[in-house]
Amino acid sequence: MRVTKPILDVLSRKTRTPPPVWMMRQAGRYLPEYRALRARAGSFLGLCFDPALAAEVTLQPVRRFGFDAAILFSDILVIPHALGQTVSFVEGEGPRLPPLSRAGDLNRLASAVDDKTLSPVYETVRRVKAELPPAVALIGFCGAPWTVATYMIAGRGTPDQAPAKSFAASHPEAFAALLDKLVDASARYLVGQLDAGAECLQIFDTWAGSLRGDDFERWCVQPTKALVARVRAARPGTRIIGFPRGAGRNIPRYVAETGVDAVSLETAIDREFARKEIQSKVAVQGNLDPEVLRGGGDALDRAVDDVKAVLGGGPFIFNLGHGILPDTPIAHVERMLARVRG
Ligand code: CP3
Repeated sequence: MRVTKPILDVLSRKTRTPPPVWMMRQAGRYLPEYRALRARAGSFLGLCFDPALAAEVTLQPVRRFGFDAAILFSDILVIPHALGQTVSFVEGEGPRLPPLSRAGDLNRLASAVDDKTLSPVYETVRRVKAELPPAVALIGFCGAPWTVATYMIAGRGTPDQAPAKSFAASHPEAFAALLDKLVDASARYLVGQLDAGAECLQIFDTWAGSLRGDDFERWCVQPTKALVARVRAARPGTRIIGFPRGAGRNIPRYVAETGVDAVSLETAIDREFARKEIQSKVAVQGNLDPEVLRGGGDALDRAVDDVKAVLGGGPFIFNLGHGILPDTPIAHVERMLARVRG
């Protein structure tokens, strides 16, 4: 008998009550079992490229909490790494890459991703798939071209994405070529994840909100549209969740143009707007405030109820508005789940 997976039902625009639930960054530092394994693993990218350990980390939150989805444990920055721009993670500071400051620096990148670099990630997907309970969906992911490019240009995370914006303004052709290359690389990477067993995908555009007007269209919408089209041309019917964080009132346009099946909603979005203008077209996911989850208590119960009250009547996946914060108590996650599942 085929088991229907609640997450995949919702991505086909069905309403499930209670809603299925998972959390962005559900595998991570708030879990003692993650911290223990992380301490043994050496470098963060070494963990991402070790199929046995990465599969174990992917499964930890599913085992502990019974989430409705597992998300592949990897990082959006494996793509620049596989293009030859070596990525490292500095403890407590974040990612570091040799920055691409001049247009000519783009010539240092490989013409296509190195499949050998990425093949351990596909092996992780295969191992997780073999272990997952039948009703739990396996989500693959990548960063959106714009967000990945912001790290590649600056060589690190930036508060306002200023280096990437000024690079795009002064070298628009070179920047467009970089995003084209990221569309190619990401499409190949996502198809590899699907072929290994991923059942749906999420595209993380964490910094979409820093783009305005024509720039939003050109650097967020168009590359995402191309990526979605490339994946669906290769693997028709693939369900895709977009996360254009901070895009607010631009999201209906993003949905119409990119063709995503669902949108992950950040905390700050106007929920009534999301219900009327986004959930009327596609499924939505989100948007509990990670700070409220960290705080716990009655305020957490009320926040869960508020999210469900507005979005729970349509196709909806319960999630956070952004990743879980590392100092969130486990008991608060348990309390949230009990409340979501009623
Ligand atoms: O559980 C999951 O959600 C799956 C794994 C996952 C990670 N990163 C693991 C990770 C996913 C989906 C990501 C996506 C990601 N990575 C994004 C987009 C989503 C978002 O949160 O906005 C971005 C921008 C990155 C890049 C990145 N990776 C940064 C800026 C950092 C450092 C900041 C930090 O939190 O330390 C990372 C490191 C990272 N990626 C960690 C984890 C669990 C923490 C590092 C560690 O454990 O040592």
